[in-house]
Amino acid sequence: MGSTSRSWPRPSASIWGCCPRSSRSWAWPGCSTTWAKARIPDTILNKPGRLTKAEFLQIKRHPLLGRDILWGLPLSESVLRGVAEHHERFDGSGYPKGLVGDAIHPWGSILAVADVYDAMTSRRSYKGPMLPTRSLAVIHGMRGRDFPVRLAERFIKFLGPYPVGSFVRLTNG
Ligand SMILES: [Fe+2]
Repeated sequence: MGSTSRSWPRPSASIWGCCPRSSRSWAWPGCSTTWAKARIPDTILNKPGRLTKAEFLQIKRHPLLGRDILWGLPLSESVLRGVAEHHERFDGSGYPKGLVGDAIHPWGSILAVADVYDAMTSRRSYKGPMLPTRSLAVIHGMRGRDFPVRLAERFIKFLGPYPVGSFVRLTNG
């Protein structure tokens, strides 16, 4: 999850195949995980080098911390699981639980791909922003390993032709 206040690319119900009403809940995951990360020292979040084991353990707490922040609010289980599972990876290499494949809630995978895209295209104290087209190429390479193939391809298809930052010339001037 990005440590800046930037919001994730807003998922559209038509991209992900969610019911239209559920798309209104996408703001909550971004807010809660940002708040959760606010409890982690900036020295860890912005550390340019490799994290120590203890530092990484702190980072790994933020998905469940983010879910706990939302606990008790009138939100769907999809939102809560999405927050809790947005760092799980399709091949089981993610955290906090190391869930594999379909054991990851679809919202977890959706938020994961949006979060990775945001992280790559954002400026950090230790790196500049990656070009959107390059970021989409990286996500393409991660499909089937980090994210479900179909989900990654839908994301790329949606953002690919005109990624954020593109200039277009309208035919009517
Ligand atoms: Fe995160």
